[in-house]
Amino acid sequence: MTNPIYECVINKNTTTTPIWFMRQAGRYLPEFRKIRKLNPNFINLCLNKNLSAEITIQPLKRYDLDAAIIFSDILMLPYGLNQKVNFKKNFGPELGPLNLEEISNIDENKFIKKLHPIYEAIKNVKTNLLNKNKDLIGFVGAPWTLLVYMINKVSPKKKLIKDFFKDDYLINRTLIILEKFLKLHIEQQIKNGATVIQIFDSWAGLLEEKNLPNYVYNPTLNLVNYVKSLNIPVICFPREIRNYKNFCEVVKPDAISIDYNIDPKLIVKEIKIPVQGGLDPKLLLSDKENLKKETLKYLNIFKNHPYIFNLGHGVLPETDPMMVDYLVKLVKDY
Ligand code: CP3
Repeated sequence: MTNPIYECVINKNTTTTPIWFMRQAGRYLPEFRKIRKLNPNFINLCLNKNLSAEITIQPLKRYDLDAAIIFSDILMLPYGLNQKVNFKKNFGPELGPLNLEEISNIDENKFIKKLHPIYEAIKNVKTNLLNKNKDLIGFVGAPWTLLVYMINKVSPKKKLIKDFFKDDYLINRTLIILEKFLKLHIEQQIKNGATVIQIFDSWAGLLEEKNLPNYVYNPTLNLVNYVKSLNIPVICFPREIRNYKNFCEVVKPDAISIDYNIDPKLIVKEIKIPVQGGLDPKLLLSDKENLKKETLKYLNIFKNHPYIFNLGHGVLPETDPMMVDYLVKLVKDY
């Protein structure tokens, strides 16, 4: 028996719709907030193998989800490269200076050692999921999105800092280094039990069309081919890219995760590969009737297309856990 996501993504099965959520473990859950309050340093929490495994499992204890996603962060990679990363309350991540010489000389074994608790947590969760017919999703940030954080230092919101593209040499070298360590990070996650890899390119939408090949398509294609070579399904989420069709034709992931601004009717018409997500996470803040209407819209549109139910971005912290329960049941009963 294969796991539900594998069945959907690789075997193109349309009879069932697997379901999981981006940020399914997080601040909307009181049991997460309780642990978080006692662990004010987010990086240290991600490096606590027992707590991060426990947090990963929390949403699965509440809901009938088909996958766990390891509780970690895409910014653990720059952290592993010795760039300072700090999560500030009510502000988000803030990174320290990017030192090309430093990141050029990182030893692979030291990198693995620094991030080792993440791999231990994956192993721990895997044991917990054994024989449960559920996937364990490992993930990385795409090279472009990590580059954005490493150079911009803070979340870019709507645009990049003025001189973002000024230093070509720095950008190109950093992308090469990122590729090497992202592969290593992916490999370790798979070795320890990840059965699917998702690549988050949260800031793909900041680029003009003409820059996509250089910063998004090519670097992501290298990672996608690498994951495929390890026989593990790979899902890409190039958020707000607008032209998902082009992305899929060039990068060819096993499945594509879509944001909530793209019309799902257009996607189902244009895209041949399995699709994931789309529903606006803000709908979980509205009422059941509205949530039901929009959820059924996605389920109906993708009825005859391999489809993984998910949101168009992460679960928002202000979400009521009861609404998540309602949504999971809606999808399961469809
Ligand atoms: O999805 C999951 O449940 C797995 C865990 C996960 C986290 N971050 C935990 C987290 C995953 C897959 C991520 C990915 C991530 N991290 C992305 C890509 C997806 C996206 O959201 O676009 C990005 C851009 C980041 C970087 C990041 N981490 C930001 C911008 C922030 C601050 C924003 C916020 O919500 O506070 C984080 C912090 C973060 N990562 C939290 C969690 C649960 C909140 C931390 C807290 O408790 O304060």
